[in-house]
Amino acid sequence: MQNSYHETVLLHESVDNLITNPDGVYVDLTFGGGGHSREILSRLSPKGKLFAFDQDADAAQNAIVDSRFQLLQYNFRHLQRSLRLAGIKQVDGILADLGVSSFQFNTPERGFSYRFDAFLDMRMNQQGSEQTAQTILNQKTAEELQLMFSNLGELRNAKTLALAIVKARQRKPLETVQELLSVVEPNIIGNKYRYLGQVFQSLRMEANDELGALKEMLQQTAAVVRPQGRLCVITFHSLEDKLVKNWVKNGCFNDTPEKDFYGNVNLPFQAVHKKPVEPTAAEIEANSRAHSAKLRVAARNS
Ligand SMILES: C[S@@+](CC[C@H](N)C(=O)[O-])C[C@H]1O[C@@H](n2cnc3c(N)ncnc32)[C@H](O)[C@@H]1O
Repeated sequence: MQNSYHETVLLHESVDNLITNPDGVYVDLTFGGGGHSREILSRLSPKGKLFAFDQDADAAQNAIVDSRFQLLQYNFRHLQRSLRLAGIKQVDGILADLGVSSFQFNTPERGFSYRFDAFLDMRMNQQGSEQTAQTILNQKTAEELQLMFSNLGELRNAKTLALAIVKARQRKPLETVQELLSVVEPNIIGNKYRYLGQVFQSLRMEANDELGALKEMLQQTAAVVRPQGRLCVITFHSLEDKLVKNWVKNGCFNDTPEKDFYGNVNLPFQAVHKKPVEPTAAEIEANSRAHSAKLRVAARNS
């Protein structure tokens, strides 16, 4: 869907899989520009309800005026508690479309993009955590930076970059995108834009503890989604996809299920499709951000 705030990815594929009961209660965990939320509301009956989460106060400008809709400005890691506060114990389906919106990415002063000089902020919730990309760059040890660039950014020369950052910050703390670029650029290997994208992505994921929030949220879905209800998650990073895949397949984040004291395995969900749903070539052509998207759909076991 064309939207200046954010172009929605896998819109029909995700909402088709999410809704099993038009009278039901649904949750859009990543409201953003509201593209998925509007589509969900268009499929619900007058009895249906939709709760949307977004930790970024800016998303409230897209709030939908509809008596069936409520926007909650919380991190989705507080899923169960936030729904309880809204009087909801269980829901028919949960959708998450991870990462940042185009609006966040394209707003220079948020510091998410290497295209604009700004303070290295990168927090989705600017009223929440005090951890910014700037504090990460100046406070983490060389080993921690190396691990971050190698795990989240998949950089092949993570150690070289980490050491260059530690050396540069001894002269002056890194505070702006331009200051970071002046350290990164001499160390780029391969395609310049791909490399910069990986550096900025790893800082953003770390600043927002994106993998931590995803794990905490997934662990609550077993209690929140009612039997036969759906869990639909769109990821853009291989580590996110691995967490979702293992959660659905094994009920935990390991490659094999955990057994209880008696040797039983408890699997809250089962996969609806063997493989993740991916965007069509036409969608990728129209929206390059869709190229790494993967949708996993799971049904809650009874
Ligand atoms: C990719 S955009 C969602 C776009 C939306 N599906 C649409 O069609 O417009 C992701 C949104 O989720 C929010 N977000 C990301 N992680 C979050 C979290 N842990 N808790 C709450 N909101 C989060 C971001 O602030 C951003 O607005």
